[in-house]
Amino acid sequence: MSTPRFLVTQEIPEPGPSILREAGEVDVRQGMSAEELAAAVTSGDYDVVLAQVSDRFDAQLLAEARIKGIANYAVGYNNVDVPAAAEHGIAVGNTPDVLNDATANVAMLLLLGAGRRAHEASEYLREGRFTGLHPDLLVGQDVTGATLGIAGMGRIGKAVAHRALGFGMRVVFTQRPPRDREVSQDELGDLAGRVTQVPWDELVETSDFLSLHVPLTEDTTHLVDADVLRRMKSTAVLVNTARGPVVDEKALAHALREGEIFAAGLDVFENEPAVEPELLELPNAFLLPHVGSAEVGTRAGMARMAAENAVAMARGEKPPYPVEA
Ligand code: DGY
Repeated sequence: MSTPRFLVTQEIPEPGPSILREAGEVDVRQGMSAEELAAAVTSGDYDVVLAQVSDRFDAQLLAEARIKGIANYAVGYNNVDVPAAAEHGIAVGNTPDVLNDATANVAMLLLLGAGRRAHEASEYLREGRFTGLHPDLLVGQDVTGATLGIAGMGRIGKAVAHRALGFGMRVVFTQRPPRDREVSQDELGDLAGRVTQVPWDELVETSDFLSLHVPLTEDTTHLVDADVLRRMKSTAVLVNTARGPVVDEKALAHALREGEIFAAGLDVFENEPAVEPELLELPNAFLLPHVGSAEVGTRAGMARMAAENAVAMARGEKPPYPVEA
């Protein structure tokens, strides 16, 4: 067997590079354009690409690709046309579970930050406007006792539910909006009896905080649109750590400006790295640059999983963390 060759599109932390170097030759090429990525993938120079979610592998590229696999450095894989990859015998892998807690932590950070006006308060202080305590200074929404609606009770949704219960919130959820399926108490594990499944419309209309944890699919693109935003409480806070296109960003900017909802906390954007310019101006938009999984240990775990996937793919073996078509 010839020495495996890995293309790495962004530097990743240890133990990723060591695992790859032990198995083969590693070429780290940061900041490639889509054209450069396509040229590399079709060149026959590489066995596996260790990719980021910003690297797109559509059906056309996959039809011409001369690689054995794509090891995503992410749990999400909406950047890869998975059925097309399967059709061309290209394996796909991701990094599930290892980032559940880190992402749930950021969801809570956004929930608290947007609900309690952290961004506005911090700016206020830094601008030297803090002259003393006032009863009405930067008052936000109640958290304890509030209802958190979770859209998508998967692994990350469950981790958020645990945290919210610890804050004394009431937790309701919809499993797979807009089309739901009933979740058994068994599936809920230790959340059984502590969280309540409700229809999507009820989730939208009754939640004080609405947190999104759905994968990006055709069904969930613009799941939160102008109509949904109008039906939310005017005191509600929207949190998105899932994928940007799940929310219609222009409609959200309008809703925040017009006070249709109270605030939004966003870690992901519709056209990353671009952000709807109006959102950047709105004090009730608490924004982070897609840092959901950015904890040291989490990133090391992701690096290990992605590298192990890549090595297995290069050897023609089934990756340990496969994405099934
Ligand atoms: C993921 O893992 O899907 C994140 O969004 C990227 O870090």
